[in-house]
Amino acid sequence: MVPSIVTQPVAARLTHAAIFLVVTLKPDTRGGDAVRALCGDMASLLRAIGFRNPDRRLSCVMGFGSDAWDALFGTPRPAELHPFREIKGVHHAVSTPGDILFHIRATHMDLCFELATQIMCRIGDVATAVDEVHGFKYFDERDLLGFVDGTENPVDQGAMDATIIGDEDPAFTGGSYVIVQKYLHDLTAWNAVPVEQQEKIIGRRKLSDIELDDEAKPAYAHNALTSIEENGEPLEIVRDNMPFGEVGKGEFGTYFIGYARSPARIEQMLNNMFVGRPPGNYDRLLDFSKAVTGSLFFVPSATFLENAPAPVHDGPA
Ligand code: HEM
Repeated sequence: MVPSIVTQPVAARLTHAAIFLVVTLKPDTRGGDAVRALCGDMASLLRAIGFRNPDRRLSCVMGFGSDAWDALFGTPRPAELHPFREIKGVHHAVSTPGDILFHIRATHMDLCFELATQIMCRIGDVATAVDEVHGFKYFDERDLLGFVDGTENPVDQGAMDATIIGDEDPAFTGGSYVIVQKYLHDLTAWNAVPVEQQEKIIGRRKLSDIELDDEAKPAYAHNALTSIEENGEPLEIVRDNMPFGEVGKGEFGTYFIGYARSPARIEQMLNNMFVGRPPGNYDRLLDFSKAVTGSLFFVPSATFLENAPAPVHDGPA
């Protein structure tokens, strides 16, 4: 009997707390063993912590950057895995280092914090946390710009179809791709923009979250530029953006995270936003929001993680 493939919870129901932890592997360590051991133990770690409060829906998705994949698992490699490509358009989408992403979600931060702590206990000697963002949900699922964020996400089977690799890459069926970007907002400038203009920038009404109709929606609206198609069919992704910030520092941000069965569709959206569709017709959201990180990861299936294979030559990661 062919064993069925279990996916990681990429299309999990959105939660009210998350930690986005990006680590790089230290060059002069043989870190592969520790990381592969963690991969194998991730399911039991989740059970041990999550079972203390099952209602809080603890989950974790692990993704691997292109170089880290080669060092940790060798071949075969996922067909579309590559380092995040920076985009220099009207605005700049930077590419920043990241070997492993842990996307930890729960309804409360306590479980997220405990899992992140346990993960770093396991791999802290071989990995450095290069970015750690503690995200929260704001009123009515709004981002810090004041707009409801996540409305048009596909759900249930639609979310699985958008995110989970099928027959197109048979060695990696059940996997997914994820792109993360940390955005910092200039809230003073944004709040000086009249609400009607803000609504044109997003493409939805601010209070009611109703989509602008076609006559009212400009071609540069965020939801116009991120709506893409192939052969007349919409190409969807699943997002689980989270607000974050530090009031005392004047830091107000959105952590963008997008999952898809092919990174190409997220890259096309980014191109539309940063370069413009057509070029020059860019996303005005970026006049007020600066991308300070950008990384792409492959998310293998949970089945792959449980049996994480060592490459033939296990060198420094
Ligand atoms: C500063 C960062 C961002 C903010 C604050 C933001 C906010 C929003 C908001 C408020 C909406 C409308 C409600 C909804 O349907 O969720 C939206 C829609 C959307 N966003 Fe973003 N977004 C950001 C970055 C991105 C990026 C980088 C991408 C993709 C590369 C993206 C892809 C989408 C998509 C696909 C939709 C749904 C479009 C539709 O079908 O109507 N967003 N975003």
